[in-house]
Amino acid sequence: MDLKVEFETHFGIAHTRWATHGIPNAVNSHPQRSDKGNEFVVIHNGIITNYKDLRKFLESKGYEFESETDTETIAKLIKYVFDNRETEDITFSTLVERVIQQLEGAFALVFKSIHYPGEAVATRRGSPLLIGVRSKYKLSTEQIPVLYRTCTIENVKNICQARVKRLDSSTCLHAVGDKAVEFFFASDASAVIEHTNRVIFLEDDDIAAVAEGKLSIHRIKRSASDDPSRAIQTLQMELQQIMKGNFSAFMQKEIFEQPESVFNTMRGRVNFESNTVLLGGLKDHLKEIRRCRRLIVIGCGTSYHAAVATRQMLEELTELPVMVELASDFLDRNTPVFRDDVCFFISQSGETADTLLALRYCKDRRALTVGVTNTVGSSISRETDCGVHINAGPEIGVASTKAYTSQFISLVMFGLMMSEDRISLQNRRQEIIRGLRSLPELIKEVLSLDEQIHDLALELYTQRSLLVMGRGYNYATCLEGALKIKEITYMHSEGILAGELKHGPLALIDKQMPVIMVIMKDPCFAKCQNALQQVTARQGRPIILCSQDDTESPKSAYRAIPLPRTVDCLQGVLSVIPLQLLSFHLAALRGCDVDFPRNLAKSVTVE
Ligand code: F6R
Repeated sequence: MDLKVEFETHFGIAHTRWATHGIPNAVNSHPQRSDKGNEFVVIHNGIITNYKDLRKFLESKGYEFESETDTETIAKLIKYVFDNRETEDITFSTLVERVIQQLEGAFALVFKSIHYPGEAVATRRGSPLLIGVRSKYKLSTEQIPVLYRTCTIENVKNICQARVKRLDSSTCLHAVGDKAVEFFFASDASAVIEHTNRVIFLEDDDIAAVAEGKLSIHRIKRSASDDPSRAIQTLQMELQQIMKGNFSAFMQKEIFEQPESVFNTMRGRVNFESNTVLLGGLKDHLKEIRRCRRLIVIGCGTSYHAAVATRQMLEELTELPVMVELASDFLDRNTPVFRDDVCFFISQSGETADTLLALRYCKDRRALTVGVTNTVGSSISRETDCGVHINAGPEIGVASTKAYTSQFISLVMFGLMMSEDRISLQNRRQEIIRGLRSLPELIKEVLSLDEQIHDLALELYTQRSLLVMGRGYNYATCLEGALKIKEITYMHSEGILAGELKHGPLALIDKQMPVIMVIMKDPCFAKCQNALQQVTARQGRPIILCSQDDTESPKSAYRAIPLPRTVDCLQGVLSVIPLQLLSFHLAALRGCDVDFPRNLAKSVTVE
C-alpha cells in the first residue's frame, strides 16, 4: 500500500511491531490508545507477560479494549492512573513511573498525551532504548545527571496508592541544550544515525522525559551499582555503512564486505610479526579465565553456530572443557553454573532476550561473564564483566552473515590469547596466526565464485528441500548454511552431521533430494569420503564444497565447488561463504524479500 500522509508537528511516535499478540492489522498496530479520544498513546517494543491480569482488572473498571495486543493494556493503564490521580499537577513521568511498576515482562515504551502537549516520556526494562541527540550548538553537558526518586507503594494491588514520598535533592533535574536540540528515541542506533551520531543509552527503569525541548532522566531508586549519570556517546557508525550502495540487498552487501569486516575484527589485536594477540577488553581477566573450571559459550541462531564452529579450536588452545549452549535451552534446563565458570555470550545485536536472560542467570551464580557483541552500548556489552567487540560494522540484513565470520575470528583470537605461554602449542598458534593473516585475501577468492553459485541457484531454486551435510570443523558450516537457506528462501533445509547419516538421515537420500556436502582436506576427510560413498550408493547427486587440491571428491560429485584451503580450524570462515551466497541467490530467484524475511526480526528482544 502506498500510504503518504503529511503532518505538521514537532513530535511523532511510530513503531513497526513484530506481531506477538493478534494478527498484523490496523487495529493491532502501534501506537495503541487509551480511548477513542486518544488521551494517551503508546508504542511498545517487547512483551508484557501479565497483560491478561491487567486487562481483566481494567475491564472490571469499565475500560473497553479494541485490539488483541498486550500493549493496549499499557495505554489503558496510564489513563486509569491519570483518572485516579490524587493531585491535579501530577507529572507525565510520574504517571509513567507508576504504570511501569505494574508491568511484568520486557518493554521499551514511548508515550504521548493530549494532557501533556509538547511532552513525551520514554522508558525501558529488558528491551533496548536509546536517545539520539542532535544539536546545532555544543551541548551544555556531556553527562546527563539522573534524578532519583524514592517511591513506596503501600498496596501494589491498588496502583493509585503509589505515593512519591521524596525527591532526592542531591541531584537536580537537568536539561540538555535549548530549543535547538532534537531528540530521537529508537531501539537501535542504525535508526538514528541518519540524523545524529550522538546517543544516550538508557538503562532499565530509566524514565526519560522531553518537555519544552528539554530532556530529563530519572529513575525510582538508586541501587549500589547505579551510575548517577548517562553519558552522551559518539557512535562510530557512518551513514554509508548502513546504505546498500550498488548491491540489491543489505545481505548481499554484507556478504561482500567480509574481507574488510574480518580484517577489522583483527585490526590492532593480532600482531603478525610477534605472533601475539591482545584483546584489550579481556586482558585484565585473563588470569581468572585461565584458572576457570570450564568455558560455557552461549548464543542463539547464527551466534550459537559461531560457538559450535570454534568449540574444537577452543578446546585445543585453552585445554579447558568447552560447553556450547543455545540460550533458551540452557535456561530451560536450569543448567548448573558455578562461580569458577566463565560464560561467553555471543550476540550480534547484544540485545537478544534469551541470551540476555542467560547472562543474568550466570551473573546471579557469580560466574565471570564475557560478551562477544557487534553493538557498542548494547545490553549484553554493558551487563557483562568484560568482553570483545567484534567490529564487523552495522549489520542490517536480518540474516546474519559478516557477524558470523567476525564472531568466529573473535573466538579464535581469544583461543590464541589464552595459549600464548603454552610451549607445546607454539607451532599450532603460529600456523593459525599465519592463516588469519591470509584470510581476507582468501575470502575475496571465494567471493569471486559468485557467478558459479548463482548458476547453481538457478538449478536449485524450485526445489522444496535442501540438505547440507558435513562433520568436524565444518558441522557448524552446515548448520549455518541450512539456517541461512531456510530463513530467507523458506525452503526446508537441514544441516546434518555426516557422522549421524546412518542413524536416520540416510533415509532421505534419493535421486531427487539435493544434498550439499562440505568435504575439506582436514582430519575428517576420510570419514567424509565414506559419507559421500553412502550418498552416491543411494543414487544421491551430491554438490560438493571441497578443497582446491582435492582430486578425489569431484569424481563422485554431481557438481564440485573447489575452495581455497586454509588452516583446518579456520576453514569454516571460507566454507560458509558459498552457502551465504547460495541462500541469497535462491531467495532472490524465489522472489523473497532477502533483507526482511517474513516472521523474523533483526533484534529478537522477546523470549
Ligand atoms: C540468523 C540470525 C539469527 C540470529 C539470532 C541471534 O541469520 O540472524 O539466528 O543469529 O537471532 O541474534 P544475535 O546474534 O543478535 O543475538
